[in-house]
Amino acid sequence: MTDVASQPSAPGDDRPVLTNRQGHPVYDNQNQRTVGARGPATLENYQFLEKISHFDRERIPERVVHARGAVAFGYFEATGQWGDEPISRYTRAKLFQEAGKRTDLAIRFSTVIGGRDSSEAARDPRGFAVKFYTEDGNWDLVGNNLGVFFIRDAIKFPDVIHSLKPDPVTFRQEPGRIFDFMSQTPEAMHMLVNLFSPRGIPANYRTQQGFGVNTYKWVNAEGVSHLVKYHWIPTAGVKSLTEADAAVIQGGDLGHASKDLYEAIERGEYPEWELQVQLMTDDEHPELDFDPLDDTKVWPENEFPPKVVGRMVLNRNVSNHFTENEQIAFGTGVLVDGLDFSDDKMLVGRTFSYSDTQRYRVGPNYLQLPVNAPQAPVATNQQGGQMQYRVDPVGTNPHVNYEPSITGGLREAQYPTHDEQGPEITGRLTRKRIPRTNDYTQAGQRYQLMEPWEQDDLVHNLVTLIGQAVREVQERMVWHFLLCDDELGARVGEGLGISADDVRHLPPLASQTLSDDELARLANIG
Ligand code: HEM
Repeated sequence: MTDVASQPSAPGDDRPVLTNRQGHPVYDNQNQRTVGARGPATLENYQFLEKISHFDRERIPERVVHARGAVAFGYFEATGQWGDEPISRYTRAKLFQEAGKRTDLAIRFSTVIGGRDSSEAARDPRGFAVKFYTEDGNWDLVGNNLGVFFIRDAIKFPDVIHSLKPDPVTFRQEPGRIFDFMSQTPEAMHMLVNLFSPRGIPANYRTQQGFGVNTYKWVNAEGVSHLVKYHWIPTAGVKSLTEADAAVIQGGDLGHASKDLYEAIERGEYPEWELQVQLMTDDEHPELDFDPLDDTKVWPENEFPPKVVGRMVLNRNVSNHFTENEQIAFGTGVLVDGLDFSDDKMLVGRTFSYSDTQRYRVGPNYLQLPVNAPQAPVATNQQGGQMQYRVDPVGTNPHVNYEPSITGGLREAQYPTHDEQGPEITGRLTRKRIPRTNDYTQAGQRYQLMEPWEQDDLVHNLVTLIGQAVREVQERMVWHFLLCDDELGARVGEGLGISADDVRHLPPLASQTLSDDELARLANIG
C-alpha cells in the first residue's frame, strides 16, 4: 500500500497529502475535469462526484428536540460513602463503591425547542445528559436543569412539544398555542413557575444545576431496592438571566453558552458539579401528598436529605463537533448493574423513544461509533445494518453468530448476585391518571421560595406571554395560578385585567379530579 503521506509534495512541505476516500492522491482540488478550460464537464469525474455527493449528505437529521448542544468530557469521582454509611448499602453499581474511584464521562448540555443553530439564551429547559463509561458498560443519566417536567405520562410528549415548537403554519413560536395547551394541562404548573422565572434562562452551561428528574431505583447486593432521584450541583453556583439580559446576549451571539464552556475548558478552568441523591424506600408512600413516581414533583429535602455520592469534572473539549456532538446518543434505558427503572410512566416512554430516534437519526449501528461505544468489552451477535463498522468477537467459532450453540459462539453471563426478580404486580389493565395528582401545592411553594426579584420577573414574563393568548386561555391560566398561590394568581390576573371573581365560577377541567383540599381552595380563591 502506498503511504500517501510520503507522496511527493512541494519541497519543504511535510503536511500529509490530500486524498479521496479510496486513498487516491488528489492532484488538483481547485479545478474539476472538463473538456477544455471552459467546459463542458465530464460525468466520469470520480473525484469531483465523490466530493460533492459526500457534501450533499453532510447533515444528518437534527434531534427532534434538544437539537442545539455542547459536549465536553471529563470524569466522575465517587465518595464511596456518606458519613459512616457505605453507598454499597443502597447500590451495588461499581462506579459508586470506592472513595476516589474515577469513571470517564461525556456530557451534553442543550436547549430543547430551537433548531441546531438557535439561540442559547432562549427561555427553554436545558438538557443535562451524562454518559458514564463504566467498567460494566455505559450508564446514561439524561436530565434537565429544572428538576421537574411539564407532563407525567409519556403519551402526552408529542403534544407538549408541538405546542412549544413553532406554529406549523407561521413557523413562529406562538405563546397563544403554548398556553392553549398548558391551560388544559394542570400538571404543567410546577414546570411553568420554574421555566418563566429567571431559572428558565441559565446564564451559561457552567452555572446551572442538573437533575435526573425521573425516579429510578438503586439495587444493592442483596437485591433490595430504593427509589432514587439525582441532583447535580455546580460548585460555581447558579446564575440566571432575566429576559432583558438574555436579549442583549443573543443580540450579539447565538452560541454564548457553548463558547463559554469551550473557552473555560481551554483555559484550564474545569467546571465541576457535585452529584447528590435522594433516596426513599421502594413503595408507594401513601403518607406523602404526591406520588414518588410523578416527575412533576420534587421530593422535599427536609424529609429526603440529599446525600453526596461524587463529583464530576469536565476537562476536555470535543475534537470534532459532528462525531462527538451530533452523533452522541443518550438514553434512559442505558443502565448498569445496581441501577434500575421505576414504574414512572414518563420513564418507560422515554426509554423506548431515545434508541428509536437514534436508529433513525444516526443509524442502526450508532452504538459502534467511538463516542457511543462503551469502554467495557462488547460481544454481541448483532450483525449487518447500514454502516456496520466492526464485527464483535463471536467466541471460539466464527461461524456461530447465534446463541445457544454447542459448537462455540458466545455464552450468557452469570447474574452477579441474584436472578432478576422484580416486585409482584397485580392490577387491571387500564388507562387512568395516578390518584395523587396534587398539581398546585409545589408550584405555589416554588413561588413562595423565590426572591422578590425572581417573583417579579416570573409575573412579568407570564403576563407578557399569556396576554397573547385568547381570553378563555388567560382566564384558565389565572384560575390555575390562584389555586397554586393566591398572590401569584392575583398578580398575574392583575396584569391581564382578570380578577378572582371573573374566574371563580370556572368548573375544574374535564381531565382533572380535584382533591377535597383543592375543592376547598377553589371555593375560597382570591
Ligand atoms: C432528547 C424524547 C422527556 C431530557 C430527546 C430526544 C427524544 C426525546 C426523541 C432526541 C434524542 C436524540 O435524537 O438523540 C423524550 C420523550 C420524553 C422526554 C418521549 C417523555 C416521554 C424528557 C425529560 C427530560 C428529557 C423529562 C429531562 C429530564 C432530554 C435530553 C435530551 C433529550 C437532555 C438531549 C440528549 C442529548 O443531548 O443528546 N428526548 N424526552 N427528556 N431529552 Fe427527552
